[in-house]
Amino acid sequence: MDVYEAVRSRRAVRGFSDRQVPRETLERVVSAASWAPSASNLQPWHAYVVTGGPLAELKRRAGERLASGESWDEPEYQQYPAALKSPYRERRSAFGEQRYGALGIPREDVEARQRAASANWQCFGAPAALFCYIDRDMGLAQWSDVGMYVQTVMLLLRAEGLHSCPQMAWAKYHRTVSEVLLPPGELMLFCGMSIGFEDTTAADTRTGRAPLRETVTFVDGL
Ligand SMILES: Cc1cc2nc3c(=O)[nH]c(=O)nc-3n(C[C@H](O)[C@H](O)[C@H](O)COP(=O)(O)O)c2cc1C
Repeated sequence: MDVYEAVRSRRAVRGFSDRQVPRETLERVVSAASWAPSASNLQPWHAYVVTGGPLAELKRRAGERLASGESWDEPEYQQYPAALKSPYRERRSAFGEQRYGALGIPREDVEARQRAASANWQCFGAPAALFCYIDRDMGLAQWSDVGMYVQTVMLLLRAEGLHSCPQMAWAKYHRTVSEVLLPPGELMLFCGMSIGFEDTTAADTRTGRAPLRETVTFVDGL
């Protein structure tokens, strides 16, 4: 698979089959992803690759918390600006329409949207997951390094015939994740990522993108 095809075919998949992902495949992916760039080569990420019993336990604990109606953990970082301005606000609501529209859920059915979103904490049925941490001491530039790492992992997964869904949703239960993974205290959870083979029968979302002129400017005198 060439890079264009990997980029084009990567999308946030939210329905996975129970087909297991071989450990060697996951090792190949994270081993290649370690070549992701970072400023001054700090490599400020730490990934936990989780499968089998530990992932089942994590899903069980998250499911229990969700069912109990317990509130989310206090956030360790701000996921979005408090007030999203235009055009981001419109892009977010267009995304909501696409995501929940694909499931036949209308805008006003908040409960059904929440039910659909709760699949996040079951990793959408995926048999493997990656939890990406960043050292708390790191600044804005290192967060971008971690983003590049996460994207590198997702593109390599495509080369293996696998799909993924990056999930900030897991940061809402960062304490539960830590109880299972036991990371050192200096690490902060950025996101989880569901990994597996796509369930091609699941409802699908192909998100759009803003017209190129909104996000790219060529400066070449032409
Ligand atoms: C850092 C990050 C966090 C995300 N968190 C979630 C999440 O918690 N749950 C989810 O379903 N999708 C999540 N997404 C997926 C985005 O909604 C998705 O990437 C975006 O809508 C574009 O769609 P596409 O990836 O299918 O092209 C996340 C994406 C990124 C990059």
